[in-house]
Amino acid sequence: MPVDIQGLPGVVTALQKGGVTKTSLGLNVAERIAAQDNEVVMIDLDHDCHLTSLLLDEETEQGVLNDDDAHIGKAMFGDVNPEDLLIETDFGIHLLPSTNLMGEVVDRMKNTTYGVNKLRHEVVVPLHEQGYDYFLIDPPGGEGQMLDAAFAAVQRTIIPITPEAGTVNGLARLLERTVQPLRNEFPVDIVAITPNRMQETISRDSSEQQIARDLNESFRDYLPEYAKVDLEVFETIDKPGERLMEIPKPGLRKRKSINDAFKNGQPVAQYDPECDQIEHFDTLASMVIESCKAEQEQGEVAVHG
Ligand SMILES: Nc1ncnc2c1ncn2[C@@H]1O[C@H](COP(=O)(O)OP(=O)(O)OP(=O)(O)O)[C@@H](O)[C@H]1O
Ligand SMILES: [Mg+2]
Repeated sequence: MPVDIQGLPGVVTALQKGGVTKTSLGLNVAERIAAQDNEVVMIDLDHDCHLTSLLLDEETEQGVLNDDDAHIGKAMFGDVNPEDLLIETDFGIHLLPSTNLMGEVVDRMKNTTYGVNKLRHEVVVPLHEQGYDYFLIDPPGGEGQMLDAAFAAVQRTIIPITPEAGTVNGLARLLERTVQPLRNEFPVDIVAITPNRMQETISRDSSEQQIARDLNESFRDYLPEYAKVDLEVFETIDKPGERLMEIPKPGLRKRKSINDAFKNGQPVAQYDPECDQIEHFDTLASMVIESCKAEQEQGEVAVHG
């Protein structure tokens, strides 16, 4: 594999469906990677600027979002050093904010030869060379060149799935319409598919049960340990009248403190260090780190071997 098409260390939280916890998952995983003594940059590519708005106070936010001279588009086209755009949060993550001009940035990308590689070459590579270790990318909702650009940069994804109807369909669409076509161009590693915002039990007929079943039957290799359910459990669930010996509780679960933390612009580990789901964000952080290290080692073999 040529070294220059390897992913930079990092991950895109992706699924083309609104409200499936892409942004909050990215923030929590980013913070857990940073907690292992890494310099982590979160890149907000979403034109709705949600992450940027959450993390910054209103005055800073308005200044940043309306700055015509210094925004991610300027960095992508070589006019601004991306490091000058970073804003450090009080939990140790560096935010590369979105911009109200994201529509123009996408247009310019489309009109530029290999525009889709600009995020990688002009933003992520220089920041990596300047000592930033991991890049968590919050993509725009929906398909398009900015999502492709995010994948071209880090070539790795974590996919969140929530119990609301339709998200497994969203997963099929992401795999068919984004991951598979991109894999013709470069490798894309699915680091994890994780359920999120799961209610307390997966009792009969709940959408939690359906999600756990679909994921364990069709995507088991991508599930973190905390999300795995023994397939025999579903057979027991299918037999009416039979009581489950043990009700499985696959994570990541719905927690008020995760939601409150996010609304407050914080990862849950900072807002409520006692939250029982933090260990799952740690698991995902370790999966990202391992995936990146494995690829780095392969790269070294390719260079020296
Ligand atoms: N484990 C959880 N428990 C409770 N609430 C959660 C959990 N994870 C995420 N949420 C909440 O779910 C909501 C949607 O999350 P988020 O904004 O991250 O989704 P998104 O996919 O980025 O949405 P959009 O499509 O608008 O970008 C948020 O209010 C967030 O606080
Ligand atoms: Mg979002």
